[in-house]
Amino acid sequence: MTLIDGKAIAEQIRKEIAKEAAGMIDAGKPAPHLAAVLVGEDPASQTYVAAKEKACREVGFTSSVYRHPADISEKQLLEVVGFLNHDPEVDGFIVQLPLPKHINENRIIEHILPSKDVDGFHPVNLGRMMLGLPAFLPATPYGILQLIERSGIETEGKHCVVLGRSHIVGTPISIMLSRKSKPGNCTVTLCHSYTRDMAQIASQADILIVAMGKQEFVTAEMVKKDAVVIDVGVHRIPSTETKSGFRLVGDVKFDDVSKKASYITPVPGGVGPMTIVSLLMNTLKAAGKEIY
Ligand code: GUN
Repeated sequence: MTLIDGKAIAEQIRKEIAKEAAGMIDAGKPAPHLAAVLVGEDPASQTYVAAKEKACREVGFTSSVYRHPADISEKQLLEVVGFLNHDPEVDGFIVQLPLPKHINENRIIEHILPSKDVDGFHPVNLGRMMLGLPAFLPATPYGILQLIERSGIETEGKHCVVLGRSHIVGTPISIMLSRKSKPGNCTVTLCHSYTRDMAQIASQADILIVAMGKQEFVTAEMVKKDAVVIDVGVHRIPSTETKSGFRLVGDVKFDDVSKKASYITPVPGGVGPMTIVSLLMNTLKAAGKEIY
């Protein structure tokens, strides 16, 4: 079994990005600039945005955060998006999700200029991705592709089973891996809450991608010998063995499944570290006008 070390791969990519950013600055261009819009006080969102700022600093990008109270109106938030759309100093930006209930998330996302949508959530980017056209790819699936590619895992002709059909992970990764591309050319089965006999389907996978949000759902019996297992889940569980009083586990029962898999991502240290790095890769592409 080979552990896919997301932390090390993310570090390697950050070094590559930092080198490119330094090259742009040396050439007299501004540093790539990623902005984030943060609404309300959600602790997880604050943590994500702080991590994005730190990642920007590490690679020499400019970052800015636009903080707004939870009672901002949808109209006001649309104006913030409009302002960033037109700010020539901002290469790309994200609106941190989830948003308060009174704001329609789709309406906000659709208002972001596709050329600045470094989260890859805008329907234009998702549509272009589906057609195999240049597009900003959503961060977590893009990170998974990097893990697969940089671990030297062949995908062509393989049966890939994706568990979970979220807009952010399951649905886009299923499309990306079925496209005529590298990595890609997989035969993909997308399983969801209405799938019958998910365990039997999962056990046929050469590549199993688990993004269900169900703690330690995938057991060894659901995995074919020598399968590649990518675990997108993150759950905090109480632990007496750590100082913090909790530890992280994924959607996969790691101790059992790792004995059967050829490659597996750990939690933490697998897919997680790749997500922010993908956002940096998209921001670099936005600054270099590589997509639009
Ligand atoms: N909330 C959780 N993950 C994400 C993400 O990747 N992008 C945004 N905008 N919000 C999130």
